[in-house]
Amino acid sequence: MVKEQKIWIAQNAEGKDYYMLPGMANRHGLIAGATGTGKTVTLKVLAESFSALGVPVFLSDVKGDLAGMCFPGEETEDMKNRIERFSLAEAGFAQKPYPTAFFDIYGKTGIPLRTTISEMGPVLLARILGLNELQTDLLTIAFKIADDNNLLLVDTKDLKAVLNYISENNKDFAAAYGNINKTSMSTILRAVVALETAGGEIFFGEPAINLFDFIARDPNGRGMINILDSRSLIQNGTLYAIFLLYMLTELFEILPEAGDLPLPKLVFFFDEAHLLFKDMPRVLTDKIEQVVKLIRSKGVGIFFITQNPRDIPDGVLSQLGNKIEHALRAYTPADQKAVKAAAQSFRENPAFKTEEAIQALGTGEALVSFLDEEGVPCICDRVNILPPESRMGSISDAERDQAVKSSFLYSKYMTPVDPDSAFEFLQRMGLEAAAAAENAALAAANEKELAKQKKQSDAAKKRAAKSVGNAVVGTVGREVGKNIGKSFGSFGKTLGGNVGASLGRGILSTLFKI
Ligand SMILES: Nc1ncnc2c1ncn2[C@@H]1O[C@H](COP(=O)(O)OP(=O)(O)O)[C@@H](O)[C@H]1O
Ligand SMILES: [Mg+2]
Repeated sequence: MVKEQKIWIAQNAEGKDYYMLPGMANRHGLIAGATGTGKTVTLKVLAESFSALGVPVFLSDVKGDLAGMCFPGEETEDMKNRIERFSLAEAGFAQKPYPTAFFDIYGKTGIPLRTTISEMGPVLLARILGLNELQTDLLTIAFKIADDNNLLLVDTKDLKAVLNYISENNKDFAAAYGNINKTSMSTILRAVVALETAGGEIFFGEPAINLFDFIARDPNGRGMINILDSRSLIQNGTLYAIFLLYMLTELFEILPEAGDLPLPKLVFFFDEAHLLFKDMPRVLTDKIEQVVKLIRSKGVGIFFITQNPRDIPDGVLSQLGNKIEHALRAYTPADQKAVKAAAQSFRENPAFKTEEAIQALGTGEALVSFLDEEGVPCICDRVNILPPESRMGSISDAERDQAVKSSFLYSKYMTPVDPDSAFEFLQRMGLEAAAAAENAALAAANEKELAKQKKQSDAAKKRAAKSVGNAVVGTVGREVGKNIGKSFGSFGKTLGGNVGASLGRGILSTLFKI
């Protein structure tokens, strides 16, 4: 809820209110706690508050339980008690829906989210592909060659076509772009294929998402709550990571430097973040760490929601300024270590032992520490998180379908287009080259035949001069010419056809290889 332009998130047992300052949201945050302790509900309360402040948010919905935000909350007995307990009605609390837009990388349960290879750029793509420095340089050169030749790189098939073409014709490019090592090019190609096999190709295509579409408000000035259906996406950690990185890097590029704003421009929430970082290659973790650090100055806040703070790499964790810790259980020595680490990340409250409090928290209870106006973390306290105004649970497929189709972004992004890009261009070039080769072969065969014809006619002339005389030779010569012409026609066709076909296959197989 919003009170005095601050996010009212919780109350302690003595009735003291706890706020998160929207101006500190770009110092990022963490919501942690065991399953079922209230993380997702806390996320909803925060997202609603940002929306009410006019700040759009982006959420990854891993379990499908964030989708309920497009409906008002249900009037249960528990909700009535909470409304009374926190005196919410007096503060303007009303069970109501929030403005939502549903997205889905697979384009099934939401507006499709895509980008193009060109927009992603060689540097990020190289990281995603796990390329080394040399291979990254080569990929950058491939982008440059494509750019210099107006070849659009939209999807992975464009990228493969261009890589293959450059590799096959590397000598032609050497003067202008330096040596292009074929083996390294094959490695890059294999990495692109691996990305496709991992399902990554689904993310590349047109129309590409304009990230400014996320930074939108409804007619009442409330920030849009953009919900990415991650139920399937989360099965593919690499793709989830690619997507996160792409969004953050792209936003970093398109947003102007803003410094610390009274309200952030956009806030991200990545639920079940342990699935995101699990098995993530070091290069990607490093990159995320760097982006999280830099994006702050663009007025973007990022909140990670996870079971255990230790699921998040240290370099990222240390940058999450606002903390909400729900209950953690300590059954094993490893659990105990985790609780200790979580407790140590808070400023101790003399009234209780943090380590013990974390384990004693009930559902919807948490230890919180937010950054004050100076950016200093407050002493932690044990609080009850407010309930959300929108529905806590999920929605049915039919309800989702209706919500998706009623969005004005649906018509903009729904239909994929395969534009005339690098793949199509090079395919045409391959066919043209095949045709040119056929013509060249025809011309060569023609010349050969003409030479043969001339030789024969010269010989005939000689013979004729010897026996019959010049007049007759003319007729015979013309006859011979006619016949040779005929046979050349069919010979040429056969030869040209074969040569053309095999040359064509050569060029095309280069394009379609892999
Ligand atoms: N702040 C809260 N207000 C009301 N109910 C809550 C609150 N936090 C948690 N709950 C209850 O606990 C359940 C589980 O919470 P949830 O946020 O889904 O847990 P988690 O995401 O940690 O697994 C919710 O469905 C809800 O019934
Ligand atoms: Mg949850």
